[in-house]
Order: sequence, then C-alpha cells, then structure tokens
Amino acid sequence: MADTLQKETEKDLAKRLSGHHFIDGRLVAAVSGETFPVVNPATGAEIGQAANGTEADVNVAVEAAAKAQKEWAKMPARARGKLLIECAARLQANAEEIARLLAWETGKAIRTESRPEAMVVADCFVFYGGLAGELKGETVPFSPTMLTLTQREPIGVVGAILPWNAPLMLMAFKIAPALAAGNAVVVKSAEEAPLATLRIIEIINEVLPAGVANILSGFGPECGAPLVAHPKVGKVTFTGSVETGRYIARAAAEKLIPITLELGGKSPMIVMDDADLDKAVAGAISGMRFTRQGQSCTAASRMFVHESIIDTFVQKVSEQVNAMKMGDPLDEETDIGTIISPAQFERVQSYISLGEREAGVETLRLSAVPTDSAFQKGLFVQPVIFKGIGNDHRVAREEIFGPVTCIIPFKNYEEVLEQANDSDFGLAATIWTKSLKVAMDATQRLQAGLVQVNQNIVAQPGLSYGGIKQSGLGKEASLEAMLDHFTHKKTIIINLD
Ligand code: NAI
Ligand code: MG
Repeated sequence: MADTLQKETEKDLAKRLSGHHFIDGRLVAAVSGETFPVVNPATGAEIGQAANGTEADVNVAVEAAAKAQKEWAKMPARARGKLLIECAARLQANAEEIARLLAWETGKAIRTESRPEAMVVADCFVFYGGLAGELKGETVPFSPTMLTLTQREPIGVVGAILPWNAPLMLMAFKIAPALAAGNAVVVKSAEEAPLATLRIIEIINEVLPAGVANILSGFGPECGAPLVAHPKVGKVTFTGSVETGRYIARAAAEKLIPITLELGGKSPMIVMDDADLDKAVAGAISGMRFTRQGQSCTAASRMFVHESIIDTFVQKVSEQVNAMKMGDPLDEETDIGTIISPAQFERVQSYISLGEREAGVETLRLSAVPTDSAFQKGLFVQPVIFKGIGNDHRVAREEIFGPVTCIIPFKNYEEVLEQANDSDFGLAATIWTKSLKVAMDATQRLQAGLVQVNQNIVAQPGLSYGGIKQSGLGKEASLEAMLDHFTHKKTIIINLD
C-alpha cells in the first residue's frame, strides 16, 4: 500500500498504464503479452495500448480475488467502510487527472461530462463507505425457544462488466457496494475506455488490500464471457446492450448465479400544455444528454410535446443546442465532445439516414462540427431533432445511443400516456406540468424504473436506479442495491431448549 498522491500528466499516465491489467495489487501485462490500441475519438490518434485479456487473465484475476476476499470479509464492516472513505479521498485528490484521461480516451467533454463524472466516483465511495455498517440482519419471532435471525453475507467474487458511456460512474455504482459488503471484485472494462477505470483501480489499491479490487481490459467474447463463466465468480453485474445482457443472463443460468443488468432505454419526456416551457426546454437539453452526444441509457430520446406548444418548444431547444460548442473534449470551452468509436458513429449515422428518408420528416441538424484540421478524423455528429417521426417508427423504438431525439406532438393526456408506455424499454420517464393531479397520475402510470416530474437529473448515489421491461433486472446506487444484490441472506436458528 503506497501512501503518496502522485500527480502525472495524462500523457505520462497513459504511457505508464498502457498494456496493463491491475491484478492482486499491481499492474500486470496480459498473459499472452498482447495489447490493443486505445484511440482518442476526437482525432483518431492512438493514446496508448490496453492489455488484451483472455481466459488466462481471467483465471489469474479471479484466483487472486477469491484468495483476498476471505480476509476482506472477516474485517469488521465499518473498518471496510472506513477504507472506502479513504479511497474516496484519494479519488477526489486525483479526480482531475482521471477526468482528463477519460476525456482523452472517450471524447467526453472535460467541463460538462468527464470532470463531473470523476467527482461522482468519490461521492459514491463515501456513500457506500458510510453504509457498510448497515449490513444488518433481523431477528424473527419464530419460536420463544428458538433464537432465529438472519445475517447478510458477502457473495464472494463479483464480476463487473462495464460499458464505455459513463464508465467511471457505472464502475463505482458496481464496485463500491460490492466491496462494502465484503466481496472482492474483478472488473472487465469496456474495450473503448480502459484507461481511466484502470487508474481508479490503481488508486483504490493504495488503500485496499491486494487482490480485493482487480481490473482486466479486453473484448467481450474473449475476456467478458470467461469472467461470467468462471466457477468462482458468484455474481455478475453488467451495464450495456440488451443483446449482451441476454447473453449474460443465459450464461449465468448455467451456473445459477444472481445477476444485475442495466440495459438500454428509450425514455419518454412528456411536456403538457401547462408546463413551464423554459424549464422544460432546459430539461430537454439535460435530459437528452446532448453534452454526452446522447450516449446515455436514460436519454430523453422520445419527447412528446403538446401540439399547442410544440413549435415554440422545438425552436427554443434548437436555439439552445445551436449555441452549444462542439470541439476538443479537453478544451474547457467545449460543451459537446465526440461519439466513442467508429462503430457507434456508423450506427448513429445509419439511424439518422433512416429517419431522414421518411416522407414528411423534418430533420434539424444543430450546432456545428469543429473545422480545425486536427479534428478531420474526429467522430463528431451534429445533434439531430426529428419532427414528424411517429412513435411506431424504428428511430423512436430502438436505442440509438447518439444525439438524436424525436419530438412528437400529442393532443391529450390519455393518448400520450399510452404512447409513452408503448416501448420495449422502461428505464426512465419525465412529465412536465403544473397540475399536481396530472403529475401524480403520471407517476403512478408511467412504466419506468425512475419517474421524474418537472426535472430530469441523472442517477444519484442514494436513489435506487434500474429499469423494467427490456431495460434490465435489479437496482443500483442505493442501500437496497447493496443489500439485495451483493449479499446472501442466511437464516440462523438456535434451539434454546
Ligand atoms: P455491449 O453490450 O456489447 O458492451 C458492453 C460491455 O459488455 C463491454 O465491456 C463488452 O466488452 C462486454 N461484452 C460484450 N459481449 C460480451 C460477452 N459475450 N460476454 C461478456 N461481456 C461482453 O455494448 P456496445 O457494443 O458497446 O454498444 C452497443 C449498444 O449497446 C449501444 O449502441 C447502446 O445502444 C447499448 N449500450 C447501452 C448502455 C447502457 O448504458 N445501458 C451502455 C453501452 C451500450
Ligand atoms: Mg457490442
């Protein structure tokens, strides 16, 4: 356990971290020695290399985790919690370099996205550090002559498979509760965003015993799949696509282990005719996550706006998105960075072409891609608003994961509620109205894991987060998430006769 808070520039940092996993307290190369490039999506330039993990690396990491977990679980829960709070202090002290590394490897703008995300990580460790003492059981009035109680026990080794869209926050939501509850973790980072998560694991290893928190980089089928299949992995927590979520559910069924799946969304935003329009417009901008290029599972990608105000609404949203600056993710002036990868870029473009081709559709392309020659190969996509796409169109039904939203008119409340719920997904929903009656009714009838009225904030430590329908299984970010998803409940009966 080192005790210095080292500061490095992101270039040195990327170089030093390149080609490594972090297993059993240290940076290690892949067993095969192979690596793959990490690319800055704003320029196409290589910024470093990631270790190319395979089953052999998974085996080393899981064995180290299983060994370390035994001692970790014996530590008093609040002692573990205090270590997590110490991790938070170090994460906070290093948040800027983590944020810059994230901006560099993902194209997420430093001021609007990467820095706030790096801060949430520390917050999440504080939250779960404080909750470690709440791993309580119950006594049960089963019989006067039998002392009957329940006890929360860690599962053992937790496999955590990450996406690239908010990799730091989503990793924290997974590993902080898992560790607080006495589990060891083996993380598999997203192939598009391996470095900032690796740095976080390195930092928390300054505090935690070796082997408790490990991370591998690598591709899904080669590195993620063997992690899910490993016999010593007792739980898998995943955020990503529905397709991979289904694969993980099938693989977990073979082992009969619990899983948490946070999958996609197509979140409706309903703007009633009595809504405070300026607040709703601001909510549309933040809700659609334009600053993250719409690469969010809760993105308000279906906006249902009352027909009497739709033109003003579209005009105001367009004006504000037009005023946003697209550019170098590391520039403080930049509001909007890039799409993560060429594959996602193609995917987003194909949905835009699909919408555009539809007869009667009006396509608004907003803001402007940077013209500087340094960004010629940058994966910049102008935010798009579609007017005239119906709720039954593929563009309104499938998750695009890009800066593309459909603004759809409606006439009355019952009709819009039906359309909002007419989706395969059920992650989040918002309604904007001054009527308490309508707001209350909507909170009861909108089919989503998170319903907000007159605001649209992102997931927060302390609030249960997770969807219904195709949006996934289980909750994250709350006390219940730690208790229900990272512990087993044992019932103990002591016969006193
Ligand atoms: P993905 O689900 O393929 O990848 C997410 C993670 O799963 C990555 O770490 C990947 O390596 C891993 N993975 C892939 N195949 C695996 C397997 N067979 N076994 C174990 N792990 C595996 O998602 P991808 O390809 O990055 O993005 C595709 C689409 O998924 C996006 O366009 C978006 O619609 C959705 N998505 C949703 C996210 C969310 O926040 N709910 C996050 C990322 C993607
Ligand atoms: Mg994939």
